[in-house]
Amino acid sequence: MSEKSPYYLQTARLNWQQDNVPEAKDFGDIYFLLQQGLEESRYVFLQHNQLQQRWQQLEPFEHFSIGETGFGTGLNFLAAWQLWQKTADQTAQLHFISVEKHPLTYTDLERSLSAWPELADYAKQLLAQYPTLTAGHHLLKFDHGRISLHLLLGDGIESIEQLRSNDHPQWQTQNHPTIDAWFLDGFSPSKNPDLWNDRLYALMADLSGPTTTLATFTAVGSVRRG
Ligand SMILES: C[S@@+](CC[C@H](N)C(=O)[O-])C[C@H]1O[C@@H](n2cnc3c(N)ncnc32)[C@H](O)[C@@H]1O
Repeated sequence: MSEKSPYYLQTARLNWQQDNVPEAKDFGDIYFLLQQGLEESRYVFLQHNQLQQRWQQLEPFEHFSIGETGFGTGLNFLAAWQLWQKTADQTAQLHFISVEKHPLTYTDLERSLSAWPELADYAKQLLAQYPTLTAGHHLLKFDHGRISLHLLLGDGIESIEQLRSNDHPQWQTQNHPTIDAWFLDGFSPSKNPDLWNDRLYALMADLSGPTTTLATFTAVGSVRRG
């Protein structure tokens, strides 16, 4: 596709470290740590948002929405999906909404996710539905519709702005969706000021409710204040 097309996206340009650890050349940062990556994802994003406890308490047919900045290899998504299956009521629905400006190609995604044999079944299902990498909203459904992955491909802030004006009835609360838990995972803020800024924090506030939580790996002061 021509770079002039509004649907064009630059896919992630990667280096590989220690076999299957992807590093984004353009950001000089890795997507996850070898061996600890899955544990770190669970600790930082699932535990700090108290998802196990919250999901065990969901009522039948309740919905829960996660908003993520940076889909990357989908590791956080797969870890959340696995926990959801173990904890949430069979009739409850998870909406995982993730933005990504530089998606991994199918081949790079497959190679990255091969680092996690425990998640192999989930990775296979994600790969089977991984969309053509064009800018816009891609909706993928898993587990008989219990899990919806809303992959918003394009600039993260612009995508979240579009999300705010989306009237999808399943997320709608007072004319816009409410995110129950945020995963802020967009590479180091010092290496990526385009994503970590006041515009993002204002959008997050707008899309959050009184019980919304957020988790991030960074302890940088500007992010804490934002
Ligand atoms: C640390 S990685 C995310 C890891 C991911 N959550 C996972 O589970 O593998 C950060 C991601 O943020 C994406 N990103 C960086 N800047 C962005 C922007 N302005 N808008 C959307 N995504 C962005 C990168 O392309 C990268 O995939």
